[in-house]
Amino acid sequence: MPKEKYYITTPIYYPSGQLHIGHSYSTVAVDAMARYKRMRGFDVFFLTGTDEHGQKIQKTAEKAGKTPKQYLDEMAVGIKKLWELLDIRYDGFIRTTDEHHEKAVQAIYQQLYEQGDIYKGSYEGLYCTPCEAFWTESQAVDGHCPDCGAKLEKTEESSYFFRLSKYQDKLLKLFEDNPEFLLPRSRANEMISNFIKPGLEDVAVTRTSFDWGIRVPFDPEHVAYVWIDALSNYITALGYPDDLTNYNHYWPADVHVIGKEIVRFHSLIWPALLMALRLPLPKQIFGHGWLLFDGDKMSKSKGNVVDPVVLVEKYGVDPIRYFLLRDVPFGADGSFSNRALIERINSDLANDLGNLLSRTVAMIVKTFPEGLPGEFLEAPVDVELDDFADETLRQVEAFMDHLEFNHALESIWALIGHCNKYIDVTMPWILAKDEKDHPRLASVLYTLADNLRRIAVMISPFMTRTPALMREQLGIADGDGEAADSMTSWESARTRDLYRRNPEVRKGKPMFPRIDIEKELASIEALQ
Ligand code: MSP
Repeated sequence: MPKEKYYITTPIYYPSGQLHIGHSYSTVAVDAMARYKRMRGFDVFFLTGTDEHGQKIQKTAEKAGKTPKQYLDEMAVGIKKLWELLDIRYDGFIRTTDEHHEKAVQAIYQQLYEQGDIYKGSYEGLYCTPCEAFWTESQAVDGHCPDCGAKLEKTEESSYFFRLSKYQDKLLKLFEDNPEFLLPRSRANEMISNFIKPGLEDVAVTRTSFDWGIRVPFDPEHVAYVWIDALSNYITALGYPDDLTNYNHYWPADVHVIGKEIVRFHSLIWPALLMALRLPLPKQIFGHGWLLFDGDKMSKSKGNVVDPVVLVEKYGVDPIRYFLLRDVPFGADGSFSNRALIERINSDLANDLGNLLSRTVAMIVKTFPEGLPGEFLEAPVDVELDDFADETLRQVEAFMDHLEFNHALESIWALIGHCNKYIDVTMPWILAKDEKDHPRLASVLYTLADNLRRIAVMISPFMTRTPALMREQLGIADGDGEAADSMTSWESARTRDLYRRNPEVRKGKPMFPRIDIEKELASIEALQ
């Protein structure tokens, strides 16, 4: 049977500065989802990329004494390096300066113009340069951008408009008929009451005030205004409109993951644009919350950005990925702080997971240096823990269906907690003392090892290195830490009693060394 496809995207990021932990947040989330779906047997296409046109990029490049293209090429390399550092496994990376994309956007403009969805007018509005967005008087906060707080500039210029207003009723129907189109649901209500019901205005889709953009084919004085250019990436990256093989296979997107500040563009302009082009709509848009620092959105201009490269170098990639997905419910705002990160590393990773593995492995090595004896394992195993693991897996699957990463991880950590409790209750160190208890001890340790094997699979979408380290110590990895599919596939987590007989268990270094929190925080402060 052919695999079912799954197409998931991140926003394409502005390379106007170094990406920070907030951008990494979206990308790590999409990567976890893509890994999960691959493990579930889907044919996944995970798209990310960079949004490279617009005034801000042009100005930033000028300041750096470079041409936009020179500047962007360097930035794109840096962004790809960051994703590599975070173990992001994307299938496509689009740059809006890719030739194919530029031509495709021109074709889209031409079609919309010919069919009357784009018309000429003149625009007066309050423009936010950092966000590249126009705001109305009522949306502006004291003349400042409601998103980033920059001062808005009153701007008037000749512009072409996209007839968004024409799609008003269809958009309303889309939201009403598809309660899962935009999640979390509260964001859909916000779109309906703040934008659709009061009446959608047509949107300016070209500019003449700068020239770092795609030339509009029917009026080369104008360049494409960034949002149509940017949003189209989701289909042009699949080859639309010339080479439709990938497009036919993967479109419509299963989910566009974005931050809440760009929900408006994705859930109103994007579907209307697709309606105008008579193309299918994405199945879902998920607008996640912001990662705040000191209660404020991170932004370069506020100087409160957290550098993911520094964090990964200090603590390792898995702790960072874990923290991002565990600490904050995906739809809500949350805070980043060094204290919260270190506390999570110490409690969830070093204490709960790390200790569970090292205690289990140490006890096996000490009592059964030749490996768990197969003949003892016929003794009754403790099914209660196995049942708990079955239920955990069911919960993880249900949570992942709704991108509830923090709940999925919470469930896995409840299983880890249960395993630790199981050690406290069965007291293997007492069983070890008397040889006649060794069959029972073998069965207890087997149960623990088999559940650790299942845990290693369940955490695989979120943590990219830890599962192999666990398998190595448990003696179920071959050679360089790679294990057979039978030990790594999602289905293997569903099956109990797969742990090997007589495995070569090996004590390893602690996976997550404990951090002295006060000392660490003091040293971070000293650096600032
Ligand atoms: N280029 C547009 C997106 C076009 S998509 C067709 C853009 N780029 S951006 O570089 O500003 O990136 C915005 C995205 O980065 C947000 O939507 C969000 O996914 C992520 N984040 C940036 N800062 C963030 C936080 N502080 N917290 C969480 N996510 C944040 O907008």
